Amino acid sequence: MHFRTFAYEDALFCHTIRKRAFTELFVDELTPAQISACIDAYALYDYLRMQKAGEFFIAEEDGVPRGFMTLKRLTRQKAEIPLIYIDPEHLGQGRGRECLRWLEQWVITNWPEVTRLTVDTVIPGINGGFYEAMGYAIDGETMCLCSGLDIPATRYFKMLPGLEAD
Ligand SMILES: CC(C)(COP(=O)(O)OP(=O)(O)OC[C@H]1O[C@@H](n2cnc3c(N)ncnc32)[C@H](O)[C@@H]1OP(=O)(O)O)[C@@H](O)C(=O)NCCC(=O)NCCS
Repeated sequence: MHFRTFAYEDALFCHTIRKRAFTELFVDELTPAQISACIDAYALYDYLRMQKAGEFFIAEEDGVPRGFMTLKRLTRQKAEIPLIYIDPEHLGQGRGRECLRWLEQWVITNWPEVTRLTVDTVIPGINGGFYEAMGYAIDGETMCLCSGLDIPATRYFKMLPGLEAD
């Protein structure tokens, strides 16, 4: 896959695949109210706003978007992956692995002080196995605030090499 930064034209793709994940993939683990709240948490224009708030990447094949990822610096040594989504038509074929590995390498290269990468998921029963397969461990339980609704979530973390401690 080829990775590039988000462009204005990608907003609809990102909005669509995230919405499809909640309506097609997550229905067994979330209530209808939680699904609505999660979908409503990001309107189309929010993807444009996110581009300005942090790092935002598109994974594509032959110029066709297949997934997207966002990255947020929390502190000097901590960063978070707020969003990582693969097109529902192309799941389970190694693209998520390739995206996450690329993202980790981006952090190591561009934010070398970061030693701890975290990701919160509201559907750990569905995608927790992915993070575990990728070397992430459970950090504990947390809450994700979506459209005013607190939704229980599991936080995963992975240690990165980082710079020598100073
Ligand atoms: C989670 C997601 C990013 C994983 O991407 P993917 O392309 O489907 O996963 P891959 O094919 O790259 O799998 C990589 C590894 O994770 C494992 N894995 C992937 N999904 C898994 C699951 N649901 N349960 C258990 N293991 C899983 C695979 O078996 C593989 O392990 P292996 O190499 O040891 O065999 C993708 O399924 C997705 O976008 N899902 C919908 C949105 C989502 O859940 N986003 C995260 C929100 S927190």
